[in-house]
Amino acid sequence: GQNTYGKHLGCYADQKKLRLLTGFYGNYANTNSPSSCLDICIQAGFMYAGVQYASECFCGENLPQASAAVAEHLCDMKCPGNVTQHCGGYFTMNIYETGLSKFTPRVPTTASTMNEPIQIVFLLTLNGRALRQVHRLINVLYRSHHYFYIHVDKRQDYLHRKLSSLEQFPNVKLATTRFSTIWGGASLLKMLLASMKDFISLGWKWDFVINLSESDFPIKSLEELEKFLSANKGLNFVKSHGREVQRFIKKQGLDKTFIECDTHMWRVGERKLPRGIIIDGGSDWIALSPEFVSYVVGKQDQLLSGLDVIFQHTLLPAESFFHTVLRNSHFCDSYVDNNLHVTNWKRKLGCKCQYKHVVDWCGCSPNDFRTEDWPRIQNTQDRQLFFARKFEPIINQEIINRVEQYIGIKDHYLISNLEAYWQSIYNVEDMTASSDDILLTHAGSIVRHNARILLDEGCKIEPDLIIEINSYNYADVYKGNLILHKAIVHDNIEILIETWYKPKKHIELNFENPYIDNIKIFKVSSDYDQKETTFRNLAGILGPLSEPLLLYEFSAQVDKKSENFTLIWLDPTGAIGDVNMIHVDENNLTNFIKPNLKAPLLPGIWKVGLFEQNRIIVATKFLISPLEYFSGKDLSHQESSIIHSGSQNSYKNFSNIKPKNFLPDYEQSILLQKISQSNIQRIDQDLREWIDGLTLEFYNVLGSCIMFNNEIKDKLTCGRHKFENCVSTQWSSLTNDPKGTIGKLNTKTGQL
Ligand code: UDX
Repeated sequence: GQNTYGKHLGCYADQKKLRLLTGFYGNYANTNSPSSCLDICIQAGFMYAGVQYASECFCGENLPQASAAVAEHLCDMKCPGNVTQHCGGYFTMNIYETGLSKFTPRVPTTASTMNEPIQIVFLLTLNGRALRQVHRLINVLYRSHHYFYIHVDKRQDYLHRKLSSLEQFPNVKLATTRFSTIWGGASLLKMLLASMKDFISLGWKWDFVINLSESDFPIKSLEELEKFLSANKGLNFVKSHGREVQRFIKKQGLDKTFIECDTHMWRVGERKLPRGIIIDGGSDWIALSPEFVSYVVGKQDQLLSGLDVIFQHTLLPAESFFHTVLRNSHFCDSYVDNNLHVTNWKRKLGCKCQYKHVVDWCGCSPNDFRTEDWPRIQNTQDRQLFFARKFEPIINQEIINRVEQYIGIKDHYLISNLEAYWQSIYNVEDMTASSDDILLTHAGSIVRHNARILLDEGCKIEPDLIIEINSYNYADVYKGNLILHKAIVHDNIEILIETWYKPKKHIELNFENPYIDNIKIFKVSSDYDQKETTFRNLAGILGPLSEPLLLYEFSAQVDKKSENFTLIWLDPTGAIGDVNMIHVDENNLTNFIKPNLKAPLLPGIWKVGLFEQNRIIVATKFLISPLEYFSGKDLSHQESSIIHSGSQNSYKNFSNIKPKNFLPDYEQSILLQKISQSNIQRIDQDLREWIDGLTLEFYNVLGSCIMFNNEIKDKLTCGRHKFENCVSTQWSSLTNDPKGTIGKLNTKTGQL
């Protein structure tokens, strides 16, 4: 435990008498290569064939007692010029057997579990708007003897607001100190530590803390988890990377300093990790004992205060911090290499550098489980795995239904709308609500559209405040959006009405082109998720400040020979805004193209066509809706002249491109230019009429219902229209959804 380069030996020295297995000398050429003495020393602790070994390493010439100063000098000696052979130094490495093997957790026996009931703190770290899925997760995990500590990303006020009512339960607490926990950020660890400190201060009596996100779900019954944990009290479950340490350090960016600022992880430079510390890590999903957590959040010793500095500047810190503390502290023999999770890694899809806007790093994410991934979950049956990630009902809910049945939930047959899923995309109380200009413009136009439909039936309503917008799926198919809003009917009765609508399809296929059979998807929207290969903006709501992109998918036949195609983007005046070349081969059958178009985009109907040589294969139209509001206020003349005039002068010159039957002729294009010019003048009612005309072309209203109340008890007839009660309307977000709502507490069983 005394060696400068072998401090971690202390961990084992406390526990076991170390046996020296072997010692050896080596030399190294000190170049800038990674094989310098210090790099070798960093790898000092290692696992081989399931057994943990410790080693101490000395830099210098055969110097087992080398002083730090001598070793430092020799290690850092730089080679002059490009001479690499005769400089550098020597090192000595002693390898010890620690007596620690990869720990296998105990298999529970009936006797052990009966005597030892277990209490778990579920530390939920949440982000996004999947409220009903979070309710579903809590419903399945809830028992009155467990605890729920919930942290919601500071920026997600919707989820936080909606979950705050859970504090009615004495065993549920929402974090009051909240962090903007960006992906991979140092704040994730800060949040975990602050949360742990907070729930320790509550005096809860618990045996394990397990962190889970909104996209985790159990894949075994809670009773099985309880049984397993009660046989393994005092152990700490974390998952290690399972590769060579140095490779893990590089892959994870642990040798880089990051600074989190303005919700971004900035990479600011290289760094050297402390010598003599075993670096370990892998996954940030953990199950920890109270003894270890109290140590970690308690009074800092030298190890913790040193690691604290490092981990404040570490990317994905929670993926290594707990592992490293465990390995180097007196808790090292409580380490179990299992995070209790199965993770749906599909690296080809999940490693697309999709977080570059948040971190200066190419990060990966696991994929959502879909129905076809079911065997992967089934294969965990005999393994000590109790949770899986990721699940998103907006992507696939069927698999969640299946998992619930698999883990013993038997009441699905009672749930009539088991296959329905609603997810909020707007709520009037959201911090950002008043400035969501395009969404409010769009929703306002849809509800006016519905009011006109009702007027045709002799029912006059005046649409008022938009309260909530939900995305609605049935059987994992997007069925449209639902707008819940106030309205006045019969001149003075205020009603709450929900309007269901759906985007129309706008695709023109050229059946004479031989490639037409190969086109599977050709669609424009925004917020494309590369990992899940889907648009998150399902309704295609786009405004002048949006960033549209095109998603295409070819069927496999094209792969025989690779092909080049051209994409041409036309603005509402018929001018070419951008041209892209695309290359399709067997590895690139699905892709997305972001046109090079400057904001603001000219409002109106845009068109994008796919061409083979000069011949069109397929085209689609998309709407760039004018804005009714800017920063939450009615658009002024001055704002309109900036936002609605487009950026035509930034287009490149594409006059050499003349696709057949695609561009307007000269007269048409002059007319379209004129219309576009005059549209810039439109504000107030004139502007609304323009917006509504366009909305009508792109969206269908499918129905509406109202919320009955004390005044409207059983039916409301308006003109020839008889309103349905939303509560009994299958598609309505107001209908009963037991799986997505927190259940009633059964005081006998302690379950929801
Ligand atoms: C992967 C790994 O599985 C995970 O271990 C690692 O921390 C990040 O990369 P991924 O699916 O990419 O996970 O991350 P995600 O589950 O979306 O986020 C991780 C945690 O951070 C969750 O608890 C999530 O709620 C939270 N988070 C994420 C936020 O609080 N705010 C965000 O903006 C993003």
